[in-house]
Amino acid sequence: MARVRVMGAGIIGLAVADELLRRGHQVEVVDPSPGSGASYAAAGMLSPVGELWYGEEALHALGHEAAELWPDYAARLGVALQRGSVLAGADAGDMAQIDRRLKLAGSHHEQAVALERAELLEREPGLGRVLGGAWLPDDHSVDPRAVVAALRNRVRVADTAQTIEPEVTVWATGTQLPEPYSALVRGVRGEILRLRLPTADLPRHTVRAWVHGEQVYVVPRAGGEVVVGATQEEHDAPPVVSAEAVWRLLDTARRLLPALDRAIFVEATARDRPGTADNLPLVGPTHEPGVLLAAGHFRHGVLLAPLTARLIAEQIETGGVEPAVDPRRMAARVKQGAGR
Ligand code: GLY
Repeated sequence: MARVRVMGAGIIGLAVADELLRRGHQVEVVDPSPGSGASYAAAGMLSPVGELWYGEEALHALGHEAAELWPDYAARLGVALQRGSVLAGADAGDMAQIDRRLKLAGSHHEQAVALERAELLEREPGLGRVLGGAWLPDDHSVDPRAVVAALRNRVRVADTAQTIEPEVTVWATGTQLPEPYSALVRGVRGEILRLRLPTADLPRHTVRAWVHGEQVYVVPRAGGEVVVGATQEEHDAPPVVSAEAVWRLLDTARRLLPALDRAIFVEATARDRPGTADNLPLVGPTHEPGVLLAAGHFRHGVLLAPLTARLIAEQIETGGVEPAVDPRRMAARVKQGAGR
């Protein structure tokens, strides 16, 4: 049994703590404001296929492995898993984006089925003027706030470090890593909206779309909430919601799903995603004995949470490291303090 302090109680820190507790370790979690960082903003898409991009083979492999953990993980936590996603495009340029995704999915042996307009409307009758799209049967979603609440029922979080003399400290503080690691992550602002709709008007699945070149995703929850996201902006200023982002997201989303005009506006949120220099997270040992990182998950924190928890537990128990996410790959940047 190890004595472990987990710094940070977002979805990553909580998942790590829960996994360690399940394995019989002694765990203290420290966060003065649990669940209030990127996890609070996240839409909760579990999208190894929808988020697939060129040159990100290692990230895709991790995402694929993590996605396979989620059905059992969600069931154990008692949170709903909403299955499947559609891609939709409004014009020929948008359809070219979808075509690219279909080809990428095929080359990664992922399931993605091209849909004609009529087939797309059969799956998502609420869509407006779309030309066609695709069906991604293995891209699911969960409500990250429900996941955080379920984990917090299992894991006690303290404001300050107090109860144990840790043998291992795991930093799961997103964009806010301590020195000398702070330069390994940078804030990538995301602005995201929450609306409420009558359940009859909800989309049936997560919809990712390109609407005359504007990208948007819409994630429904069974209770009537709809999450509309998200901007992505590199910046050094604190994450605030801009009027332009709200306008642009709403304008794009309502053209995709006209029923959103009847929605109640609930919330606009901005948080920094923790980006790294290679878009891969930092999970595992540092050059300091007993100091581990579980951070830098960029757009994939919710998806990768159960896998991160498993990797950290295995590192503590066996010394095992997943090379693709080993924080020591950034050693030169730690020394130079130049993570960007
Ligand atoms: N994972 C979606 C986003 O970061 O916006």
